[in-house]
Amino acid sequence: MEFQEIRTSMGRAITHGDVFGRFYDIFLDSNPRIRPMFSDVDMEKQKALLRQGVNLALMFAEGRAIGRSAMDRLRNSHSKSNIGIEPSMYRYWLDSFMKALSELDPDFDANLEKQWRAALGKAINHIAGGYDEASTKSA
Ligand code: HEM
Repeated sequence: MEFQEIRTSMGRAITHGDVFGRFYDIFLDSNPRIRPMFSDVDMEKQKALLRQGVNLALMFAEGRAIGRSAMDRLRNSHSKSNIGIEPSMYRYWLDSFMKALSELDPDFDANLEKQWRAALGKAINHIAGGYDEASTKSA
């Protein structure tokens, strides 16, 4: 499966504004538990890491090995034994990302949102599914 339409959507959004900056503004206010998690984090660096992470999540959903190894690493770093992101928190991430995209991609619509949610949902299931696993290596 390839995601030409959603990659084009990402491109349009990036052309129109700071998608990842807007994402973090929305995400940090989406649940009271989230902002404190990022209090010591360099958000400019985090935005770049997430941009790369989303690209790798799409590769994971496409079944590519590089995406798989990247999502294995996030599954480990986000698990209980490392940064400890409970599975219930991922919906705030996904809803915030959809909100940022809907603001910045002028062609965003229900069909695109469905495709985005399906693709990113695969990566989220993989990452959140490792919550209770013992750490495989240092985060
Ligand atoms: C598909 C969803 C997500 C992706 C692709 C993602 C991606 C990333 C990436 C690439 C990093 C950089 C460090 C690393 O590689 O481990 C990171 C760190 C982090 N993420 Fe996520 N993340 C996701 C969901 C979440 C959620 C739902 C939360 C919290 C509710 C969260 C909280 C954090 C925190 C606190 C850090 C550590 C920052 C630091 O201490 O430097 N992430 N994430």
